[in-house]
Amino acid sequence: MKTSHSYPFFGSDGYDGLDAILQDLSPSKTFLLVDSNTLDCLSHFVPKLAQLDADFEILEVPSGEESKSLEVAANLWSVLLEYGADRNSIIINVGGGVIGDLGAFIAATFKRGIPFVNVPTSLLAMVDASVGGKNGINFEGLKNQLGTFTEPNFVLIDLDFLASLPSQEWASGHAEMLKHALLSGRYWSELLALKPTNLTLQHLQQSVAFKAEIVREDFQEKGKRKILNLGHTTGHAWESYLAECGTPCTHGAAVIQGLHVALLLSGLGDLQRALAQRYPWQKIEEKALAPLWERQLQDKKNTNGEVRYVLLEELGRPIWDVKISMERWTQAVLALNSAL
Ligand SMILES: NC(=O)c1ccc[n+]([C@@H]2O[C@H](COP(=O)([O-])OP(=O)(O)OC[C@H]3O[C@@H](n4cnc5c(N)ncnc54)[C@H](O)[C@@H]3O)[C@@H](O)[C@H]2O)c1
Repeated sequence: MKTSHSYPFFGSDGYDGLDAILQDLSPSKTFLLVDSNTLDCLSHFVPKLAQLDADFEILEVPSGEESKSLEVAANLWSVLLEYGADRNSIIINVGGGVIGDLGAFIAATFKRGIPFVNVPTSLLAMVDASVGGKNGINFEGLKNQLGTFTEPNFVLIDLDFLASLPSQEWASGHAEMLKHALLSGRYWSELLALKPTNLTLQHLQQSVAFKAEIVREDFQEKGKRKILNLGHTTGHAWESYLAECGTPCTHGAAVIQGLHVALLLSGLGDLQRALAQRYPWQKIEEKALAPLWERQLQDKKNTNGEVRYVLLEELGRPIWDVKISMERWTQAVLALNSAL
């Protein structure tokens, strides 16, 4: 059983569905991939699955973006071989977007592809990373340079995992929810005001439904799916730049920076100022401008050495492949700096 474009199942439906998958596939070996923080999620997760083979193996990697590397991937492939994993083995990724991206990449490439399941435990992974079939690792200091489009066999979302999520990670996921609201034009004001204590299953379902809708239209990102990169051109550059400087930020914090830039470039100052009320712009030093532009040129969504942006004509009306010059981008960043 494969879910349609990895549309998730929520709560007890999710556990029932995953049990059904495990019964159906009857995997030769089950691997649970976690990071050093999400290891603790297993005490909640494992007892809920009647069909989980008691002989499962736990694969643990250090938490953080550094684990999305070729070295960690190679190590995991070696461990799979050591355990005699075959094409009927399954990997269950229990973690945030890092575990999802890494585990799906490992599974999609090992022996030309073995089954895998995403069990997102961070808000960001629930509303975004676990859905849509993209996976990948970083390479040569650049984000997601190696990866595939491969749908998981199942996605299970359990809100209870969020109880242990640190607040900056909650905000990181909130950033992607805001991105979805800007793109869809739905629930923007409501979501901008959302606090962790008010988050409901319905908020998650709305956000996931929007992403799934776009992915269904354009799985391979030939056209419309590119809109999901709103805020990610500057965002990815900022994320990798800060990581290289030794002062990493969350993925969502980088996306917020990117959303500020994209809204200003879109001429939507009102939306940008509303965003700044909740998540202020972080000043970008002038010395960072050239390295950030260089990174944007490397973005794999570009063609012919030009930087292409997703912008909004208005709330809920995205356009993509908009060519932005270095001058225009620099002016936007400097304008955001001077408004502080
Ligand atoms: N494939 C996609 O479509 C897609 C989309 C968006 C983002 N991403 C990728 O996702 C990654 C970011 O995801 P993320 O923000 O989840 O990062 P992450 O996986 O690093 O998780 C953030 C932190 O929260 C911890 N954590 C996760 N769940 C927890 C829980 N329930 N309790 C306590 N701690 C928990 C993790 O250990 C980590 O320290 C990036 O690498 C990004 O490129 C992929």
